[in-house]
Amino acid sequence: MRRIRSTKPYASTIAVAACTLLIIPTIAAAAGDATALAAKYNCSACHAVDKTIVGPAYKAIAAKYAGDAGAAARLERKVKDGGGGVWGPVPMPPNNVPDGDVKALVESILATK
Ligand code: HEC
Repeated sequence: MRRIRSTKPYASTIAVAACTLLIIPTIAAAAGDATALAAKYNCSACHAVDKTIVGPAYKAIAAKYAGDAGAAARLERKVKDGGGGVWGPVPMPPNNVPDGDVKALVESILATK
């Protein structure tokens, strides 16, 4: 009896810690974490949130297409197929990203403030 009482608070602390570790990444993913996906698909090699690397900053992309209802669909295609001529002389190479993730990536880029 005594042993059970003394181990119980300890066990629940572990349970809370374990839940926290599981929940935090889930929340980040649900919020459409652009940086996590961008890192996963190597977009971060050429793009950053607020400065030009090889490609334009996500903030600049969001500002350029603000209010453009067709932008998301066009940009999803362009991320997959690659292409150039919009931001400068350097084209973007094609990126091998599954449809669900390309949608999430473009949505989160267009929502960058
Ligand atoms: C090798 C470098 C490189 C990588 C990797 C790269 N990009 Fe790009 N990206 C560019 C360049 C360069 C441009 C500008 C192309 C242009 O001028 O049309 C660009 C443009 C864009 C645009 C704007 C396109 C437009 O027509 O306005 C989006 C959105 C974008 N990239 C998203 C991504 C995403 C998402 C990834 C990862 C899946 C990615 N990029 C990976 C170099 C890259």
